[in-house]
Amino acid sequence: MHPILNIATIAAKEAGEFIANQLEHIDRLDIEEKGRNDYVSEVDKHAERIIIDTIRKYHPDHSIKAEESGHHQTDSDFEWIIDPLDGTTNFLHQFPQFAVSIAVTEKGRLMHGVVYDPLRDELFSASRGAGARLNNYRIRVSEQKTLQNALMATGIPYYDFEYVDAYLESLKQFMLTTAGIRRPGSAALDLAYVACGRVDGYWEMRLKPWDIAAGALIVTEAGGMVSDFKGGDKYLESGNLIAANGKMLKEMAKIIGKTIPEEFRN
Ligand code: IPD
Ligand code: CA
Ligand code: CA
Ligand code: CA
Repeated sequence: MHPILNIATIAAKEAGEFIANQLEHIDRLDIEEKGRNDYVSEVDKHAERIIIDTIRKYHPDHSIKAEESGHHQTDSDFEWIIDPLDGTTNFLHQFPQFAVSIAVTEKGRLMHGVVYDPLRDELFSASRGAGARLNNYRIRVSEQKTLQNALMATGIPYYDFEYVDAYLESLKQFMLTTAGIRRPGSAALDLAYVACGRVDGYWEMRLKPWDIAAGALIVTEAGGMVSDFKGGDKYLESGNLIAANGKMLKEMAKIIGKTIPEEFRN
């Protein structure tokens, strides 16, 4: 295992264990609403501290972009992109679907990623060129060829409602053309599930880089494809993302192109 992936793994597991242990104390947690339906708890913040402290121990010079504490830019080529708790709303409701997501870029290129589900002890990981794993096993995207038989995952807008109509059009088309749609509630795990074939495709709008950086690399290393809503690779910038195997991605892109107006595809 690459030493950087090893550090990411140690950090994700430590943070994940901490989060899982806090589930029983939910009633006593300090919770802030950053914006409408956008919550952060002391658990998110402490998990982020655990991760950053681990990284700093080995790489004090690297840049860090973290959801709760922001951007610490250095002149290093390496940047860590951290979501300490992806699926905060699920966590706060004790809905058992959330994860820690950590990615590392080198000169802006995704190089390593881990997504850790502490309740199932499932660690999804990848380093560029070395394939993707679930714990110690190699994983691959599904071979599903048609939307008709495909199980999809998505994320439903829950704030920033200006693009709700555009999203609903895409949802309607996928409802009418696929075998079913799930809204699990952690973008990082949605991507990890594409990578190991539990779902055949995933789309969501307006995500943040920390939601998707690790998962996107895991999908591509598992033989899948990830694109933005214009067929390009600017998903970290736009936050609009489609992920699937190559064949399915084409079919999904057609639906996105048909249903989401140009101004919402940027
Ligand atoms: C959220 C989750 C959710 C997605 C949201 C994200 P958070 O992340 O990934 O599935 O639909 O867009 O913001 O806020 O729980 O880290
Ligand atoms: Ca959040
Ligand atoms: Ca997130
Ligand atoms: Ca989060």
